[in-house]
This record gives sequence, structure tokens and C-alpha cells, in this order.
Amino acid sequence: MTEAAGQRVSSGLEGVYIAESTICKVDGQQGRLYYRGYPIDALSKNSDFEEVAYLLLYGKLPNRQELDGIRKQMAEARDLPRGVISIITEMSGKADPMDILRTAASSLSAYDPEVSDQSPEANLRKSIRIISRVSSIVATIGRINEGGSYVAPDKSMGHEENFLYMLNGKKPTERQLEIMKDMFIIHAEHSSNASTFGTMVAGSTLADIYSAITAGISVLKGPLHGGADEAALRMMKEIGSPNNTESYIEGALAGKKKIMGFGHRVYKTYDPRARIIKEYLVNLQPDASDEVKRYTEIALRAEKLMVDKLGQSHGIWPNVDFFAGPVYVAAGIPVELFTPIFAASRSAGWCAHMLEYWKNNKLFRPLEVYSGDIDLEYVPIENRK
Ligand code: CMC
Repeated sequence: MTEAAGQRVSSGLEGVYIAESTICKVDGQQGRLYYRGYPIDALSKNSDFEEVAYLLLYGKLPNRQELDGIRKQMAEARDLPRGVISIITEMSGKADPMDILRTAASSLSAYDPEVSDQSPEANLRKSIRIISRVSSIVATIGRINEGGSYVAPDKSMGHEENFLYMLNGKKPTERQLEIMKDMFIIHAEHSSNASTFGTMVAGSTLADIYSAITAGISVLKGPLHGGADEAALRMMKEIGSPNNTESYIEGALAGKKKIMGFGHRVYKTYDPRARIIKEYLVNLQPDASDEVKRYTEIALRAEKLMVDKLGQSHGIWPNVDFFAGPVYVAAGIPVELFTPIFAASRSAGWCAHMLEYWKNNKLFRPLEVYSGDIDLEYVPIENRK
């Protein structure tokens, strides 16, 4: 906080509460994360994405019938309209996958007859369609980027399995499926992070839910937020050999560069999501490829150095994005899809927040402390220097 003209300015809204919510608790001191009261570890061990999406949207774990219901709704919404596939095809190779995703997700509104129905029931139905279709868009972006053509979804598959099927054109291995389940659950929600706040700002104007989610995707792209997963893996690529790790990190820190995948506004201890992903990465080592083994060694050496230097002293620890890259590589996911997959998963959290916030909507309209000139005399252009 700084004091300006007698007003308190909270740079980056640090320390400001923007809403009351029952969706997610981030305990930044103890390093704990809960969705609707359930610890993230329990969900990542036992659940799957459809169940977590239900939990986030409805506020409780589904019974068997309710789970079957959301699975069916999501499966039925999976197929992409031809116009959306055309947008993806047209932009492929010309734009970053996050830009393609932003445009394609926005275009979904054209194919939803309920787009202007702002009733809670319609917004819930639209949310389920969005959560399903954003994943189909991401898989199709990956597929077309690799030179393939659209793979129609398989309604008999679960969400993660169908995602990998639409991406690769074949059924995934057990390992790939396990990885995607974990990643989809871990990234589904994280309280009032930047992209969720961006979603809420757009939604608070009573713009429709497609507009709100498109705002969320735009905000997620940046390397200080969701884009950090790609940036972290690109750094590991640049480091190249594990023996270069320490000199690379020391050099970057000396040059005042940030190390992507470390630090967090709320967690001042180890991010519980990073802990789960790291444990997963370590456990998959015996069967890992040489490439994954190399990234893992780099990641572990970088982690040790960063934690020794900045952990206890500065509260800078690995976050969810640091170990994600090598795990995605183990699942055969190309680096440019990491952040789009984050968005596919986070669409559940974004929608849950909109449904909750709209129950008691209030337009977001913060203030600025104006520190410029005032009452200047207007000078005609021919008299200006
Ligand atoms: N590497 C080196 N120094 C860092 C890092 C880092 N990753 N993160 C923070 N610092 C330093 C920063 O340089 C600053 O130092 P000083 O006070 O000497 O200027 C101090 O810590 C405070 O940093 P800040 O950026 O002002 O603090 P913040 O609360 O805005 O930071 C953050 C949050 C996530 C933007 C920041 O830690 C960062 O840029 N990390 C790297 C990007 C990243 O991994 N983002 C993903 C975040 S978690 C998942 C998600 O949201 O998507």
C-alpha cells in the first residue's frame, strides 16, 4: 500500500478482498488449498474433472445420479460447431494457441441459443457447455497445429480421455490419462486470481458468460499468471544440461530476472499444487524418457537453489507452474498447449465464480488517485510547440 493524495492505493489490489465466496480457500501461510471445503490432495487422488466441475458449480459432491447427469450433459456438448473449427483452422500457424483459444471460445456464443438468457438456470446450463467445449477447442487447436484434422468427440469417454482422444486421434495410455486427470483437477480453481477476477469484472457489467470467460482467457495468457507454465519449461529447455542449472539461475537472479514458476501473491510457503505435481513427477521417473529425466533433474536442482536462496528468507517457493512442464512432456503434450489446457480446466472455476457472483451482483468500479495536471488552458494545435 502507498499513500497518495490522502488515499490508500493498493498496487495490484494486493491485500484487497473483492467478494465473499464459498468456492475456494487458499491458505497462503499453511500452504493448503480447498475446493468447497475439500482438500486438493483428496480431490486429486480420488476424483475426476466432471466430479470436480460439479462440486465447483453446485457446491457439493454429486451422488451417482447427479454425476451421471453432468457427465451426460458435458459429453453431449463436446462436438464443436463447424464455424468454430473453421476459426481454429484459419488461425492455426498464424497465432499463438492462447489467441486462437480466446477467439474460438468467444465465437461459441454464436452457437448458443441461450446466450442472452441471464437466468441462473440458463447460466448453469451454459457453464456446463462452456466447460465441455473449451476442452474440445484446446484439443482441436493442438490437433490442427500438428497438421491433423478435427477428431469428432467420443461420447462414451470421460472428459480427460476424450480430450486426449480429440488431441491425438487415438485412445490415451494409462499414464497420459492419469496425468491429465491430475492436471485438470489441480488447475480447476484458485479463488480470486487474476483471470478469475478478470472474468468477474467482465461479468459484473452483466455481460453474458461467454464475454466473461473470454476475458478470463485473455488474463490467463500472461507469463505472470497462467503463461508461467510454458515459460518455465522454455527456461528448462534453454538451460539444456542439468549441470548448467545453477549458473543459469544465479545469472538470471543477478540480472534481476524473475524465475518463472516461482513466487506467488498469496502463498508464502510451498504451493500445495506444486507439491502434488512434483511428487507425481518424481514417481514417474523409472519409466520416464531421457528428455523428461533431463527436465526433472534441471527442475529439482533449480528448486533446491531457489528455495535455499529465496524460500524462507523471501517467501518465494515453487508454484503450480514450475513442475507442470516436465509432467506434460511425459504425457506427450506440446509446450504451446500448456496454458490453453490451464484455461480448459480453469473454465470450471471461472463459471462457478460467475454463477456465485451474479447472485448478488455489484459492478466492479474501483478508483484511481489522479496525480496529473488540472485546469490546463487548451492550446490550438497551430500554437503548440
Ligand atoms: N523469481 C525471482 N524473484 C521473484 C520472483 C521470481 N519468480 N517472484 C517474486 N520475486 C521477487 C521480486 O523480484 C520482488 O523483489 P524486490 O522486492 O526485490 O523487487 C519480490 O519478490 C516481490 O515480487 P512481486 O512480483 O512484486 O510480488 P507479487 O506478489 O506481485 O508476485 C508473482 C507474484 C506471481 C507475480 C511473482 O512471484 C512472479 O512474477 N513469479 C513468476 C511468474 C509466475 O511463476 N507466475 C505464476 C504464479 S502462480 C500460478 C498462476 O497464477 O498462474
